[in-house]
This record gives sequence, structure tokens and C-alpha cells, in this order.
Amino acid sequence: MSEYIFILGREPEFSIAELVAVAARAKISLQFSVITNFYAVAQAELSPDFLSELAGLVKVAQVLKPIPAQKDELVNLARETLVTTKNKSWYFGFSWYGQKPNWFKEVGMTLKHEAREENRRARLVVSRDPTLSSVVVAKNKLLPPTGCEFIIVPQDKGRVLVGRTIFVQAFEEWSERDYGRPEREARVGMLPPKLARMMINLAGNSSAGSLLDPFCGSGTVLQEAVLLGYKDLWGFDVDAAGITRTQVNLKWLKEKYPKLEFKLQVARAPIEQLSNQLKDKRLDSIVTEPYLGPPLNGREDEAKLHSIHKELINFYSSTLRILSHFLRPDGRLVMVWPVLQGRGLKLELPLLEVVAKCGFKIEKFLPPQAPSGWVRTRGSLLYERPGQRVAREIFVLSRT
Ligand SMILES: C[S@@+](CC[C@H](N)C(=O)[O-])C[C@H]1O[C@@H](n2cnc3c(N)ncnc32)[C@H](O)[C@@H]1O
Repeated sequence: MSEYIFILGREPEFSIAELVAVAARAKISLQFSVITNFYAVAQAELSPDFLSELAGLVKVAQVLKPIPAQKDELVNLARETLVTTKNKSWYFGFSWYGQKPNWFKEVGMTLKHEAREENRRARLVVSRDPTLSSVVVAKNKLLPPTGCEFIIVPQDKGRVLVGRTIFVQAFEEWSERDYGRPEREARVGMLPPKLARMMINLAGNSSAGSLLDPFCGSGTVLQEAVLLGYKDLWGFDVDAAGITRTQVNLKWLKEKYPKLEFKLQVARAPIEQLSNQLKDKRLDSIVTEPYLGPPLNGREDEAKLHSIHKELINFYSSTLRILSHFLRPDGRLVMVWPVLQGRGLKLELPLLEVVAKCGFKIEKFLPPQAPSGWVRTRGSLLYERPGQRVAREIFVLSRT
């Protein structure tokens, strides 16, 4: 087993929950020693395929070793590692997560100087930010075998842990799938593709199984499922335009990745008539972001917010009841629930009793080492942006 430093995304609790869920599915043991809001350190047995399935990790470094936090120690370790790249030129950079010592700048300069004395070319990649972004790492060829990004995180007793980056997220592909797809519909709310991917991963099922999104909108969940290798896909929406957007987006994806093979069944259907479509079919995974209520403009008074909340409580209660019929006994339902925010209110859906009555229990993923501030008493994960009027609460449900 090796030790790794995982650099977490903007929603670090999602990054960890997804990592835990995918590791469990792949039967990979994962033992965390540290989890912070920015990074985690764990022992694990990882393969590159495993990492590329995840949406929540920004970078992953394999630990080289712990060293005393001293300039010469870091210079020596970086030199040893750069020599093993067997490149004539050294491409390298450093990302220090935590309080940087004032000698830190000298490390790169010392190595550059040494390289010059040995008639090597050396490019030290620096950035205005304290750490290098995944874009900077990839574009400057700092990944193996061409170069080295050294990730440094603090340990106790004046020591630091140093790792070499082995993976960065495919930022261009993520952005293209979000902004480059032909059909987008911001008005009804589109799930960010990374959140869609994390939700599918939280379902924890093999891609050999079936997956349903009964509120498929522009097809974001289905698109991410196809890329994970799912072949038996079902999508419904009450809106015919939504069904067309899903079809156009999935066709675009197939053109971009012609090797993808999948069977997608989509049709216009309100949730109330799902049984006409699915008959006796039972799904392994249901992953969905249902109707989130009417778009809010921030001018709604309290009474209006409460009336939308009531409408959503009814809608989500019946949706839970309906979906409970279509899940296999060992299947999982991963859902967004809206949280209405405004006028100092934060209105969550009080549906935990309904969840239990429908025969579901809430799955939890955060390991005991997770920062206590991440743990929500409802067992959900909260995805929100500053100023957002409808936040997304994510529940992972399995059968009791
Ligand atoms: C928030 S959007 C889902 C967006 C989708 N996740 C995406 O990324 O495009 C909710 C969707 O639910 C659909 N919807 C609303 N009421 C419905 C109902 N009763 N039955 C089925 N679909 C419904 C809407 O047409 C809309 O496409």
C-alpha cells in the first residue's frame, strides 16, 4: 500500500464522501490519517482508472516521505526525485498547503542554480497563488514522466509530508461537458456535471447495473453515467423540451466518444405516471434532481416562501413513495432536495419520517477523521454557492 495526499475540491465533504463510496465499491482499502478542508492523507492501493472516475478530487500526490521542515531537506528530496525522472530538463514546481516558511522561495532557486551548473535546462513553475492549480500543473507538464509537482503538507513535530503529483482532474473535459454541450437550460436549473458524477458515484453501484433519472432535464446525470460505462439507462421528464435536450446532448456525447456503447430509453412522462413506462422494471440506481420549485428572485416574502415550501414537501413526499417502488432491494436512491433560502429563513424539507415510512435509510460516508463541521445531523451533504436562493441537499438512500 502507498500513501497519498488528496487535494479536495470546492466542496471537500463531497470529495471525501465520493472517494469513500468509490473505494468501497472497488474494494480498495482506504485508511485516512488526516482530513482537512483542503486535503486528506490516506494509505490506499490506487489505479489511474479509479482516479479518473472521480469528480471531487483536484489533484492526487503519491507521498515520497516525511521530512523535517528545513530548506536543505526539501532541496535534497526534490533533487533525488528530479534525478529519477531521467529527463535532461527539469520541469518542477511546489505547492505548499499550510503556513509557508520564509525560506520556501529559496528551494526552487537553489535547484535551478544547481541544474544550471550541471548544464541542465530547468523550469521552475510558479504562480501568484500559494499553490499551483491543476491547470498550471498539467499545462506546464509537471506530471510524470515529464516533470514534478511537489505537494507539501504540514505534519506534527516540525515535519512535513512531501508528495509527487500523479493525477490532476481533467479540467478541460469537465468544462466542455458543462458549457460546450449543445443544449443547456439554466432556467429550470442544471445540475453541475461534477455534482451529477459525484451523485452517481455515491450510489455506489457497478456500471453493469441500470440507472434511472426520472427528472432528466438536459440529461446531465445520464451523460455522466454513460461516461462511467453505464449501458442500461432510463430518463423521463414531464417536459417534452427536456426530453429533446437530453437526446441532443447524449447524441453529442456519442459523437465525441464514438466508442461508448449504451442503451438509453427516454420518454416524456410525469413522475405520477412512471409505472406506465417502467412496468415491472426495478432499477439498481436512481439518481436525480427533481423539481426544485419556481425560480426565486429574492423578493418573495415569508408567506410566499412558506407556501412554496409546503408545495415542495407534498411533491417530494409523493416522489419518494413512487420511487421506492422502482428500486431493487439492494439499490440506492441518490436525490437532491431543495433548501429554500431568503428573508433570514433556511427551509429544509422535513421528510425524514417519510423516508423511513417508504422503507429507506440514509447512508453516511464521512469517516471519523472528517472535520466535525462537515457532519450534518440529517446525514445529508449540502451543496451551495454564496447567495444561492435554492441550495441543494443531497441524500443517499438505501433500503432498510
Ligand atoms: C431541476 S430540473 C432537473 C435538471 C437536470 N438535473 C439537468 O441537469 O438538466 C427538474 C426537472 O424536473 C421536471 N419536472 C417537473 N415536474 C415534474 C413531474 N411532475 N414529473 C416529471 N418531471 C418533472 C422539469 O421539467 C425539469 O426538467
